[in-house]
Amino acid sequence: MEVIIRENGEAAALLVARIISRELHANPNLVLGLATGRTMEAVYRSLVRMHREEALDFSLCRTFNLDEYVGLPGGDPHSYRHYMNHHLFLHVNIDLRNTHLPNGTATDLEAECGAYEQRIVKCGGIDLQLLGIGRAGHLGFNEPLSALRSRTRVKALSPMTMAQNAPLFSDPTLMPRRAITMGVGTILGCRRCILLATGTEKAEIVAKAVEGPITSMISATALQLHDRCTVVVDEEAAGQLRSSDYYRWIFDNEPEWEPFR
Ligand code: GLP
Repeated sequence: MEVIIRENGEAAALLVARIISRELHANPNLVLGLATGRTMEAVYRSLVRMHREEALDFSLCRTFNLDEYVGLPGGDPHSYRHYMNHHLFLHVNIDLRNTHLPNGTATDLEAECGAYEQRIVKCGGIDLQLLGIGRAGHLGFNEPLSALRSRTRVKALSPMTMAQNAPLFSDPTLMPRRAITMGVGTILGCRRCILLATGTEKAEIVAKAVEGPITSMISATALQLHDRCTVVVDEEAAGQLRSSDYYRWIFDNEPEWEPFR
């Protein structure tokens, strides 16, 4: 794992977008794992700008999102399909048929979860997975006690997640109580992971995820087991890291990061 600290949220999101852009240039057929949430909006803004101003090409790219609410059709403004269309897909030259999210309205949810895993395998696996982090430390909707080897499945949302995401619904009582999410094992199977966290409210959980013991209570700690994971944070989210000087030293000296310094 590596930790990169940028001066503010915009700069952190821009760095993530530049990593994605570089990977997409190197491999136009990239299988890209995507995430939702407020933090990701700045990443998608940068990618849209790169598409418009630098001709960043999504035409051959395939995408898989981490999760979707159970019961919300893609046309629902609170669905993650709607979020993705609105923030990214409809503003770049991606083929919507190449964009995948779990179907939260499937009649057989278990079969849908298995089929989602199969679609990822059929595309050759995920090359680069973008991740946010919930305040309780979840990746996707891998709530506390999610098995570290879990695959895509339906999860009941924790009270903390309900409290965190309900304000995003026009009527908070309409927030579904379950979601389909890639499992922790599915995420660990991606070839590269980038976690982005910004703002003081993420400082405590970022420190636990990066420097704390691995535990299924905090699914993000499982990223310590991944052999190619980069955590990008702003100064605020880095506020409770004990070894930030060390992380800065690595970023300044590691040749891989030369183009991003
Ligand atoms: C939701 C998503 C997560 C995301 C989290 C953080 O719960 N399922 O994938 O990481 O929100 O959201 P925010 O960026 O709004 O803090």
